[in-house]
Order: sequence, then structure tokens, then C-alpha cells
Amino acid sequence: MARILTGIQSSGRPHLGNILGAILPGIELSRDPQNESFFFIADLHSLTTLKNGTEREEYVRAVAASWLAFGFDFNKNTFWRQSRVQEHTELAWYLNCFTPFPMLANATSFKEKAEKLSDVNAGLFTYPVLQAADILLYDANIIPVGKDQKQHLEMTKDIASRFNLLAGKEILVLPEPRIDERIMTIPGIDGQKMSKSYHNYIDIFLPENELKKVIKKIVSDSKQLEEPKDPEQDITFKLYSLVASDTDLAAMRQNYLNGGYGYGHAKQALLECMLEKFAEPRRIFNYYMENNDELESILIQGEAKARAIAQTTIGKVRKVLGFSS
Ligand code: TRP
Repeated sequence: MARILTGIQSSGRPHLGNILGAILPGIELSRDPQNESFFFIADLHSLTTLKNGTEREEYVRAVAASWLAFGFDFNKNTFWRQSRVQEHTELAWYLNCFTPFPMLANATSFKEKAEKLSDVNAGLFTYPVLQAADILLYDANIIPVGKDQKQHLEMTKDIASRFNLLAGKEILVLPEPRIDERIMTIPGIDGQKMSKSYHNYIDIFLPENELKKVIKKIVSDSKQLEEPKDPEQDITFKLYSLVASDTDLAAMRQNYLNGGYGYGHAKQALLECMLEKFAEPRRIFNYYMENNDELESILIQGEAKARAIAQTTIGKVRKVLGFSS
């Protein structure tokens, strides 16, 4: 039995990149009867960049509704908000004291954020320690994440080993990342990696007319309708390849090569494909966004399950550190 664990920050509504990169691969792993999945909403992490509480609440709901929209089985698995299980913050403090300063100072993610953001706070600096606490609290074995999180997972293992060395036994379980190589290659509408901070993302839960507007904005070259086009160089085609069936994709490829098929046609096909493929998730997403009480009770039930496990780990850690009588 492997324990799978992953978190998504509530710093925005999940977009196509998050869905294809994190939610769908996570759900696939969770369907394996051999696996037990722990999926949570990293709302404490979102505080490093987002301060507005009303916005956070909305994004927490949107992240939760997205997991449910794609069929996450919250009864079989564990599903919670990080902030509601206080052991995350408690363990993060203990682990801070096992984390060498230079390790955090050299973290690529911190350096990148520090360059980009005006608010470079200490939470941003110790972000990887809170992430280590998220993972280590639950004895998780496999962490499905994007390539950009690889260093955070190495830090988690390093921090856990330092703690275990002090304890003289393996109190904290060392996890393994499961890196999905596709994650970094999902292009946004401008061709750069799809990301909230680049404002180039596709929100598949938008109403149809708004989704259409976003898809219309996908960048293309200036080839005329009748000219043959190179599918491999085109962003609309790349996005279509992530959602379309093999047959439909082959048909579009041929249309590009033949000419007489414009980027507008391709965008219309992409829109229709998304609306069809995501019809059911869009319906479920809207349902949970409108029925907050139901969403809330699912999370509260998950939080009780998560807390019980987290308390066991914290108990062992406190004992080692001399914080329990
Ligand atoms: N840092 C992750 C991201 O931005 C989110 C995250 C927080 C996470 N805690 C985690 C991912 C624990 C995996 C495990 O994508």
C-alpha cells in the first residue's frame, strides 16, 4: 500500500495546466486500489503571496471543487484544508530548527520568487519547510509533483533525515517524488509555460462565451487561411493535442498541412473539444461552487481524518524533542 500525497495552493482558480499537470495524474494514482491518497489544499502556502482573505476563501473552494469535479473519491481517500489541521504549522516550526539556513537560501524557487515579487517575506523563505511538514505528517511515500518541485522534495528528505538522526530511529518517513515530465510543457496562450503569474492560462470552468474569448487570444503566426501550416510550431495545435482524441488530432494535423484551414478554425475546434471533454467536470464544479455547505461538510469530514493521522506523528515528534510529558 503506497501513500500518495499532494497539495495545490489556493492562490487562484485551477487552470488547464494545474488540471492536466496535477489534478488528473493525482486522480489516476488515487484510483489504484493499492494506493491511499492524501490530497489537500495548501491554503497556508497561499498566504506567502496572497493576503486577501475573501479571495483566498473563493480560491480554496475552487481548488476543492476542481478535485471533486474530476471525480476524486473523498470517502476512500483523505481531503482537507491545510490550515484546519494545526499540526502542519506546529511541525513546520520544529522542522525549521532542523533546516540549515544555506539550504533555504540556495533554493531555486525562493531565488526566482525573490526576483519577481515585491513582497519577499520570511514565509516565502521557509515555504519548503512547511511543505516538508505537509508531507512528513502523513508518512507519505509518493509525491506527484511538477519538475519545479523536485528540489523541495530533496529538502524534505534532507530535513527528515536530520530529524531521524537526532531521534536515532526512523520517525519520519522519507518520501519519493513522482515527477510528471509533461507538467512543465503545458503551454499558455502565449506559448510560455501556463502559469497564473504569466496571465496566460486557460480557466476551463469559465462560462462558454468567456472561454471562447480566451481561446481566441491564443497567439499564432500570421499565415493566411489558404497557406499550409506547421502544426508542431503552433500553440493552438499543441493545446489541442493535450485534450483531443488521437483521431481528431490526426485530422487537425492533416488540415494544417493541407492549407485552407485557418487558426480560427483550429481555435473553434479546440473550444468545442474542451466543452465536450470537460462538460461533466464543468457541471460538477459549478454545483459545488453553488452548494458551499456540501463542499464544507466534505472538507470537515476529511479534516477529521487528516487530523487523527497528523496527531499521531506530532505525538512522536514531540516526544523526541522533549515537548511531551
Ligand atoms: N509547493 C507546491 C506547489 O506549488 C504545493 C504544495 C504545498 C505541495 N505542499 C505540498 C505539493 C506538499 C506536494 C506536497 O505546487
